[in-house]
Amino acid sequence: MFVCSCFGVTEEQIRAHAEAGACTPRQVASASKAGTDCGSCVRRIQGILGRGGCPRRTGLDQALGGRTVEPQTAPAPVPASVGPAAAPAPATVRPAVAA
Ligand code: FES
Repeated sequence: MFVCSCFGVTEEQIRAHAEAGACTPRQVASASKAGTDCGSCVRRIQGILGRGGCPRRTGLDQALGGRTVEPQTAPAPVPASVGPAAAPAPATVRPAVAA
């Protein structure tokens, strides 16, 4: 059954994208274009992803006891044992100067 009639994307295809790691409607759209035209299917895609369509999300939800988590926007802190002091300094790249 089609979920996105604008691009002919089926529920099975949405689930396949979720299995491959797409856990948000935006990630599904990147993989299939579903939801990027009229947008009327986005809620159905959200529903599929929220009903166990995304294995990673389901595992995270279970681990958190039903609490929701916002995606991290900043990188996680690096432990001191593997931080910059332990790692070699990155090489400095200077832009080429036109002659
Ligand atoms: S039905 Fe999916 S973008 Fe229109």
